[in-house]
Amino acid sequence: MCGIVGYVGPRDCSDVLIEALTKLEYRGYDSAGIAVFENGRIKVAKSKGRLTDLVEKMNKEGKPKGHAGIGHTRWATHGEPSDVNSHPHSGRRVTIVHNGIIENYKEIKQFLIDNDRTEFLSDTDTEVVAQLLDFYYDGDPVRCIRRVLHEIRGSFALGIVFADRPETVYAVRCESPLIVGQGKGEVFIASDVPAIIKYTKDYYLLDHKEIAVLRNGTVQFCSLHGRIIEKELLTADWDEDSAEKGGYPHFMIKEIHEQPTAVKTTITPRIENGLPDLSECGITPETLRGFKNIFIVACGTAMHAGMVGKYVIEKLARVSVTVDIASEFRYRDPLIDENDLVIIISQSGETADSKAVLSLVKQRNAKTLAVVNVKGSSIAREADMVIYTHAGPEIAVASTKAYMVQLSVMYLLAFEMAFAKGRISEEECRRLTLELVRVPDIIDQTIKRIENVCRYVSTKLITADSLLYIGRGLDYALSMEGSLKLKEISYIHSESYAAGELKHGTISLITEGMPVIAVATQNSLFEKTLSNIKEVKARGAMTIVICDQKADIDFDVANYIVRIPRISEMLMPMIATVPMQLLAYYTSVNKGNDVDKPRNLAKSVTVE
Ligand code: G6P
Repeated sequence: MCGIVGYVGPRDCSDVLIEALTKLEYRGYDSAGIAVFENGRIKVAKSKGRLTDLVEKMNKEGKPKGHAGIGHTRWATHGEPSDVNSHPHSGRRVTIVHNGIIENYKEIKQFLIDNDRTEFLSDTDTEVVAQLLDFYYDGDPVRCIRRVLHEIRGSFALGIVFADRPETVYAVRCESPLIVGQGKGEVFIASDVPAIIKYTKDYYLLDHKEIAVLRNGTVQFCSLHGRIIEKELLTADWDEDSAEKGGYPHFMIKEIHEQPTAVKTTITPRIENGLPDLSECGITPETLRGFKNIFIVACGTAMHAGMVGKYVIEKLARVSVTVDIASEFRYRDPLIDENDLVIIISQSGETADSKAVLSLVKQRNAKTLAVVNVKGSSIAREADMVIYTHAGPEIAVASTKAYMVQLSVMYLLAFEMAFAKGRISEEECRRLTLELVRVPDIIDQTIKRIENVCRYVSTKLITADSLLYIGRGLDYALSMEGSLKLKEISYIHSESYAAGELKHGTISLITEGMPVIAVATQNSLFEKTLSNIKEVKARGAMTIVICDQKADIDFDVANYIVRIPRISEMLMPMIATVPMQLLAYYTSVNKGNDVDKPRNLAKSVTVE
């Protein structure tokens, strides 16, 4: 979603803003712009398209020269991507950039029109806010922002400059993320840490409806009621390199290769004497014994991690787990009460629908547990308990390592819960935990062993218009993610299907040469899946089978076989994920797509 940056300091502001916006490209955008104080006047440059288009435009028309300003990458919501709809937007004396949605912008626009403010150039909700700020501006920027905060509704973060307050940047947030970076004699605002990590690791988290005033290399915070507030300075625990490609052609492949380390870093601190121990996350065996039902609610890839979690928790701990899509769950008046545990999984911790679910279930007194990657994010702060995944920054829009660490947390939770409830013995819990500890090395071996195979097999997919991913049990849960990954970045239509359900309709889609990727890693279901593979092969499908090294399968059933190491079937998803990621990655590369920034997608979906 949109990215916001801002800068006040001695460097060339335009350069800093462009550099910082480049680091937010992963969020997804379709236009970009900046506003900089040049000789005391606000100069705006903006353009539809990529940041390179903006830079090209500035090279032709003149780059704003100054030391304070704001910048933006826009992911269109209100109004098509165009030069005029790009941010910044201005009223007469106010210029702003905005991430999020202003829900009541139509009423505000009408109010402004009724008060003779009719100069709207764009279709955006943002311009309405710029005009409203201008309408109330009486020479006191903070008072004006506070006034506007009382009138606008929605989730948003704003970067604001006032024409008569040169060299000063104002910022405010309501729901949408915003941080304030503090360097030596310079200050920044940004939607996310990677934007500023090149300049400083120290940052403040702006809270709901807090206002930041950036001036003279320092920042002052005040509340909605105008009270000056002190905030804690945080330090990012990763460096610039982790937000760079480090020699890989794309972030996605770098992040696939980072998975062994990410899993190790996530699970190691949560294992004590060979047993899972989530006490540092506020979770004790007593807590885990106390729930009647579990709900896992999330979006996209995180929801798919929850699907695997359901199979594993139900199998081991014998508790009923319902997995739901956050955008559906929030509107279906779910049957939840204080006896239930709701697990929200989210890489960013800022996804609008997942956040809404968290508030909803808290109102119904359910216990809430967040599984989140971004420290200090809204979901992490608002849940009763939080298990941080330690994947480090995930920049590619298509999630890989974040999914893998979410899986590892699902396993830890299932093991500890099953043990706490007396469903597995201590010995069994130790055995499972030890196997999980060995998984990072096996992921590493798997990547090395099959990367070339997947690269080759992907060349067989690039001409497909549509394909199916099939599997049973955990393989089915997993194939949902494999299918999503592939469609996100290869733009090939793909559907995941429970293998046994195919013959109830979907098998009619099979035509000569249509690719079917079968995940067949569950020994107990192998024969059944094999029959389903034969069924589609007999109808002309080109079959690609992901199975373990010892699986008894021949090339008369599978056109291509991707063999992965065998571990216990319950943990196979953590290994079988790798070929699915690599197939998606290389198909996208072979099609010449923009792998890290697939069209129309955003990394963090902060609007509904
Ligand atoms: C977007 C991203 C997905 C992600 C989903 C949920 O759609 O493109 O990769 O899985 O949001 O995001 P979250 O940050 O809540 O995990």
